[in-house]
Amino acid sequence: MKVLLTGADGYIGVRMGNYLLERGHDVTGMDAGFHRVGWLYDAGERRPETFTKDTRDLTLEDLQGYDALVHLAEVSNDPVGELNGDVTYKINHEGSLRLAKLAKEAGIERFVHMSSCSVYGAAGERPSKEGDPVGGLTAYAKCKVLVEESVAPLADDNFSPTFMRNATAYGASPRQRFDLVVNDLAASAFLTGEIRMASDGTPWRPFVHILDISHAVACILDAPRDVIHNEIFNVGNDRSNYQVKEIAEIISGLIPGCTLVFGDSSADKRNYRADFTKIHEQLPGFECAWDVEKGAKELIDIFGRIGFTEELYKFRGHTRIKQIKHLLDTQQIDDDFFWR
Ligand SMILES: NC(=O)c1ccc[n+]([C@@H]2O[C@H](COP(=O)([O-])OP(=O)(O)OC[C@H]3O[C@@H](n4cnc5c(N)ncnc54)[C@H](O)[C@@H]3O)[C@@H](O)[C@H]2O)c1
Repeated sequence: MKVLLTGADGYIGVRMGNYLLERGHDVTGMDAGFHRVGWLYDAGERRPETFTKDTRDLTLEDLQGYDALVHLAEVSNDPVGELNGDVTYKINHEGSLRLAKLAKEAGIERFVHMSSCSVYGAAGERPSKEGDPVGGLTAYAKCKVLVEESVAPLADDNFSPTFMRNATAYGASPRQRFDLVVNDLAASAFLTGEIRMASDGTPWRPFVHILDISHAVACILDAPRDVIHNEIFNVGNDRSNYQVKEIAEIISGLIPGCTLVFGDSSADKRNYRADFTKIHEQLPGFECAWDVEKGAKELIDIFGRIGFTEELYKFRGHTRIKQIKHLLDTQQIDDDFFWR
């Protein structure tokens, strides 16, 4: 299939581009390139040809000749989304809706959107299913809901959107992120032999490895159209729901002598579990190959191999909010996040 992958130079995009190429797809990447400065390690993997553009500037011409558009390029994660809520809405909601309309006009039949389990907000103890009420707590999560709600009515005989509500991602990527809890705790345990948490770690969160997200995209591209047409899938498996303290315990167990200290606050209101029955029942070939322990081991192996340092851990290229703030402070991007 001819696939246009937006956000191909991001944390997930770098590994997904390779994954889809290896599955035999003809992939072209596009990305504004906000985070290209970060490159933690070289995996020697093939990557798609990628052009630099903002999604808000994409034209009908740019979208000609593709069978599928896999859309990753958004302001990604809650803290960056809160930096400038207005821009988050412009890129993540209006920009993604405009892109879906253009894709439809260009005759692209499949539009795969990266939504998030964070749309379930503070859902409580029962794992949330795709049909449950949503209520994102942040601009980022609210935009995910808005895209689902505004793109779904575009579905017709020639245009099939699919919305992937991914659990919180983890795992190694050359374009590494340490603003994600598994990656952050693995790095800090490796460097200091200690995990010190401000919170008591009681909130529930679902987690999924970035290669399992990539596999879900591959399954969606391969699936019969009626299976994925205008469908929402929670992406993860029945072992994906963890309390954050379990994550800390798993990771500290991988580093000999690692100590673990919990705080007493539970300031993080994001507390939800997701039910992953639908994707396993409905999407042919989907299963997760990873769990947090395997993903953390992969990270720790890479840290050892590359001589990972505090400097690399703290580098702005590996934490989205630092890099976006840097681009704003140095006036490389304007207040609307357009390159100057
Ligand atoms: N990481 C997670 O936990 C997670 C979970 C669920 C969903 N998602 C979603 O998956 C997608 C990819 O996430 P990621 O973790 O790889 O994020 P990322 O920030 O590492 O990558 C996003 C990429 O999109 C690009 N981008 C942003 N705005 C753009 C614009 N206006 N035009 C062109 N390019 C632009 C950035 O340069 C970056 O390379 C996002 O939509 C994110 O919301 C991520």
